[in-house]
Amino acid sequence: MRKKVTIIGAGFVGSTCAHWIAAKELADVVLVDIVEGVPQGKGLDLLQAGPIEGFDINIVGTNGYEETRDSDVVILTSGAPRKPGMSREDLLRVNAEITAGNIRKIVETSPNAFIIVVNNPMDTMAYLAYKVSGFPKQRVMGQGGVLDAARYRTFIAQEIGVSVEDIQAMLMGGHGDEMVPLPRYTTVAGIPVTQFISEERLAQIVERTKKGGGEIVQLLKTGSAYYAPSAATVQMVEAILKDKKRILPASVLMEGEYGLQDVFFGVPIKLGAGGVEQIIELPLTEEEQAAVRRSAALVQDSIAALPQEYLTR
Ligand code: 2OP
Repeated sequence: MRKKVTIIGAGFVGSTCAHWIAAKELADVVLVDIVEGVPQGKGLDLLQAGPIEGFDINIVGTNGYEETRDSDVVILTSGAPRKPGMSREDLLRVNAEITAGNIRKIVETSPNAFIIVVNNPMDTMAYLAYKVSGFPKQRVMGQGGVLDAARYRTFIAQEIGVSVEDIQAMLMGGHGDEMVPLPRYTTVAGIPVTQFISEERLAQIVERTKKGGGEIVQLLKTGSAYYAPSAATVQMVEAILKDKKRILPASVLMEGEYGLQDVFFGVPIKLGAGGVEQIIELPLTEEEQAAVRRSAALVQDSIAALPQEYLTR
């Protein structure tokens, strides 16, 4: 039997996730949105690309949760989009309510699913999803690090004129302007990146990466990025469904790792059929540790601003 992935929110991120899942023939897809006709129309349209692209999966759009029953993975994308000048945290209150409502429905219909949270502020929403769902910590995670690393890898590959595939990078931190890229753990086909780029230039690339989401918001004017965020999300889906045991950065519950407690935070994990199978603790310099603490403090502040009614578990 084919696997089933539910995508909540049929906006640009949700529908592009469906597109990548279809292109990779990973699973049947259920696209859920409150707007009548939109998930149905986008689902049907994508389904009709199947004969051309050669994917045999089923895609349905719906305004309810019945069709989502017993999903293997649920991706949460729905929420108000970030507007120019608006921080991810500005979205907090609006999106907390939307997310909590969706999570409750997922718990009823897909009690064994893995939840991947994409909507912003992502780390906070992932924490909320963990609290509201009551699911084990291995089954709730936020996508941000794969996207941030992809932006960083893109800029480095452009800078030195090599394949993006040869850039390996790890970064940590909340998905925000205080993310923590780790140039020490960045290589070009295993060779330290500093052999190819000066530290000064790398620092500029790190700065551009930190503001990578905002750069696209400024260009688009309405809405935020979706191709790379969706591709990043589907890489996580693939790691789970194919038990690939990928090592990648994702936002997960901290229980003492990196000195952090009771916060969702981007760290290197092993992602496979068991979900978050391992959290990898990297040795960090004092400077890196300070950056981690700064980044975590921002996520902690954002979590503290969540309405308390959602946080009993
Ligand atoms: C991004 O980084 C909006 O979080 C999204 O593009």
